[in-house]
Amino acid sequence: MEIIIRPTAESAADLVARVIADELRAKPDLVLGLATGKTMEAVYANLVRMHRLEGIDFSRCRTFNLDEYVGLPGSDRNSYRHYMNHNLFLNVNVDLKNTHLPDGAAADIEAECRHYEQLIAQCDGIDLQLLGIGLSGHLGFNEPVSSFRSRTRVKVLSPVTLAQNGKFFPTPEQMPRHAITMGMGTILDSRRCLFLATGAEKAEIVAKALEGPVTSMIPATALQFHPRCTVVIDEAAAGLLKEADYYRWIFANDLQWKAYRGNGELPHRNGHAHNGVPAGQAIARS
Ligand code: GLP
Repeated sequence: MEIIIRPTAESAADLVARVIADELRAKPDLVLGLATGKTMEAVYANLVRMHRLEGIDFSRCRTFNLDEYVGLPGSDRNSYRHYMNHNLFLNVNVDLKNTHLPDGAAADIEAECRHYEQLIAQCDGIDLQLLGIGLSGHLGFNEPVSSFRSRTRVKVLSPVTLAQNGKFFPTPEQMPRHAITMGMGTILDSRRCLFLATGAEKAEIVAKALEGPVTSMIPATALQFHPRCTVVIDEAAAGLLKEADYYRWIFANDLQWKAYRGNGELPHRNGHAHNGVPAGQAIARS
């Protein structure tokens, strides 16, 4: 896991969008896993801007979203299909036929979940999976005690999630109690994970997810097992991390991030990180 702390929510979202754009440039038919939520709106706004100004090309890209509410057709303005169409898909040159979300209005929900896994497999799996985190510690809608080996299925939404997302519905009662979500196993199978969290409200759950013991009570802790997970957070969300200086030092010295750092970030002043690794020494990523 590599943990990158950016000064503001804007700069964190900007870095995430640049990573996605670079992956798209390197592999134009990228299989891109997408996420929803307020946090991601800035990422999608950046991607739309990069598409317009820099010609970032989505024409061959395939996308798979993490989740969708059960009972909401794509035409419902609270559906994640509606969110994706309006925040990203209709504003870039992606082929809508290549954009996938679970169908929350499917007559046979279990068949829909199996079908979604098959579609991902037919695309040879997800190259890059964008992830946010809910206050319950969920990824997608994998709520506490989700199995780390789970596949796409229906989950009951937790009271914490109902409280967090209910405010986006006309009345909280209108928020569905169930969602189809990629499983933790589906997410962990993706070749790279790109996690974004911003704001002080997320500081406690971010600290538990990144530094706490691995537990299905906080499904995001499973990312500690992923072989290539890039975590991007702002200072506010990093507020309760014990080892923030160590993460800053790695980011400041890791050559792969050179182009992303800008001028303001020099290697750690005293040449030693928290763990005593000398500045400039290669750090293995995990
Ligand atoms: C929803 C999504 C999650 C997302 C979360 C964060 O619950 N199912 O995938 O991580 O929202 O939302 P926000 O960015 O609004 O905090």
